Amino acid sequence: MADSAQHIDALLAEDRIFNPPPGLVENSNVMAWMRDHDIQTVEELYERAKNPNWFWPEVARDLVTWYRPHDKLLEWDRPFAKWFVGAEYNIAYDAVDRHAKSWRKNKVAFIYEGEPGDTRKITYGELAIEVNRLANGLRRLGVGKGDRVAIYMPMTPELPIAMLACAKLGAPHAVVFSGFSAAALRDRINDSGAKVVITADGFYRRGRVVNLKTLTDEAVEQAPTVQSVVMYQRLGAAAENVPWHPARDHWWHDLVAGESIECEPEHLDANDMLYLLYTSGTTGKPKGIIHAHGGYAVQTALTLKWVFDIKDEDIWWCAADIGWVTGHSYIVYAPLILGATSVLYEGAPDWPAPDRWWSMIEKYRVTTLYTSPTSIRMFMRQGEKWPQNHDLSSLRLLGSVGEPINPEAWIWYHKYIGGDRCPIMDTWWQTETGAHCITPLPVTPLKPGSGTRPFPGIQATVLDDDGNLSPTNTGGNLVIQTPWPSMLRGIYGDPGRFQEQYWSKYAVEYLAGDVTRIDNDGYFWVQGRADDVLKVAGHRLGNSEVESALVSHAQVAEAAVIGKPHEIKGESIVAYVVLNNGIEPSDELRSALRDHVAHEIGGIARPDEVWFVNDVPKTRSGKIMRRIVRSKAVGEPVGDISTLANPEAVEELDRAR
Ligand code: WT7
Repeated sequence: MADSAQHIDALLAEDRIFNPPPGLVENSNVMAWMRDHDIQTVEELYERAKNPNWFWPEVARDLVTWYRPHDKLLEWDRPFAKWFVGAEYNIAYDAVDRHAKSWRKNKVAFIYEGEPGDTRKITYGELAIEVNRLANGLRRLGVGKGDRVAIYMPMTPELPIAMLACAKLGAPHAVVFSGFSAAALRDRINDSGAKVVITADGFYRRGRVVNLKTLTDEAVEQAPTVQSVVMYQRLGAAAENVPWHPARDHWWHDLVAGESIECEPEHLDANDMLYLLYTSGTTGKPKGIIHAHGGYAVQTALTLKWVFDIKDEDIWWCAADIGWVTGHSYIVYAPLILGATSVLYEGAPDWPAPDRWWSMIEKYRVTTLYTSPTSIRMFMRQGEKWPQNHDLSSLRLLGSVGEPINPEAWIWYHKYIGGDRCPIMDTWWQTETGAHCITPLPVTPLKPGSGTRPFPGIQATVLDDDGNLSPTNTGGNLVIQTPWPSMLRGIYGDPGRFQEQYWSKYAVEYLAGDVTRIDNDGYFWVQGRADDVLKVAGHRLGNSEVESALVSHAQVAEAAVIGKPHEIKGESIVAYVVLNNGIEPSDELRSALRDHVAHEIGGIARPDEVWFVNDVPKTRSGKIMRRIVRSKAVGEPVGDISTLANPEAVEELDRAR
């Protein structure tokens, strides 16, 4: 480690720009597209892409297959957008059917590896058969266009198969991350009104069995809309006491057994809902972000093709979980639309040893790896000896997403994983944006820690609180200035919150919620959230979501939750808790509260620190002043506390620790 630390310091001191290898630039998909369109320079590409009526239909021509073409590109009734208006479409056709009818029929779509080491390769032809049989089975259970289906599954190929089967029927899916708790699943089922839940008996994580069906049953007990539960058998004999409700439950393999291997996709409106994906906001209640078929297909496929330069020979590995948007867009939809071969891995990155990923990259000759700063920092901590024991020479491009990447981690990733030859695509986007919005291309000179500039066709900038452009190198609010094809279409069941959250601070622009600055070269530096949203290991959690979970404990009166910088996870969760009258603080209670939050939300929300206080600082109107709590927790000056209703609570925060 000492060696690498010195090396990294030296590189950073040079304030260096990393130019892409000329061969990579020359052969890149984006350069090929420019040549086909007589575009001479990258600058000219960005200029010409500013005309959406030319750019988006032109790129869409190579990527997607409409049943009926659009009449009009965009209908913008702020904040509601329709893209490719009048087009008929189904994303499942482009992701599966089209390839199954082409030479790609026998091309591998997924190279799957389970945590215990079991492997499967699934071709596009096989994928089509499995998707069709499940779609037909779901139809028999009464699932049709517009019906919501909740999916709570491990990272096996059946998860994308389930999503695609729903897409095929025009039934929006709501995937719930398999690390979430039964309570979190229940709330998401109830908010979406899902009719069917697709789950599994369980899966492997760090060598242990997670009994998913038990959690599903706990959730479904309080989810009256659910009529059927479909269960994929992942564990078989390894599963522990799988509960079974004959009137409601179906084994996946029984459901599909007699079904036809043909299933025509529903011809949908390009603006019909493809999925709902819940993400945290500033209140205790997660938001169901809505995405639609057509525009989403175009922008996810284009960004994967240009940013990660995916070609037929590539072995693509987006090492995220499909339970998050990264997996939806860049494990499932975009790679399949491009007909790519992807690696899909069930388990933990450091199981059974810290070189699990590196051995898989070597074994499958992975060419492109996409991961998060948290994972990179974790690998960095374990030391470069782990990757150095493997041949990673197949890699040609790397990616990062989910939170700002610190330059030290960037340089380490570039050197020890990328062998000093692979550019790193630091892609900024959100559940709401559906696809990359600020990102380098393989032709872009890179600065460690910057996502460089908005993708062609995306107009973004940084504004101050009054709506003026923030001066160069001054932090402000990141906004997107014009609609984009893969944008969210709303918050499920809550148009008011949609308007209020993203479209009310400024009259025109979309408010992303990130503090950002633009440097002298026009490069964007996203610094972190501007609102009360935590980023823990790249996962988004609302401060108030964790507070609500704490307050739901019988012995807790109040809680203030803040994020504190953490070397690996980016942020750690620190909770200050006021107990009910007469309850004595104890270490036992402290650990019970941590477990309680994990039980209410999921392991990712378990607080790292819990402190007991008599009071938390509040405004006169009773709002918890998290800013002050945070300053105290990280040892910064608290600033003006004269507006507080209870200034003495500030001292309390010190006494508690
Ligand atoms: C938030 C969105 C997008 C998929 C994973 C997270 C942060 C994301 C970057 C990046 C700096 C980033 C932002 C954003 N973020 N990518 N490259 N550099 N920050 O999706 O849970 O919707 O979170 O993640 O704060 O707003 P998400």
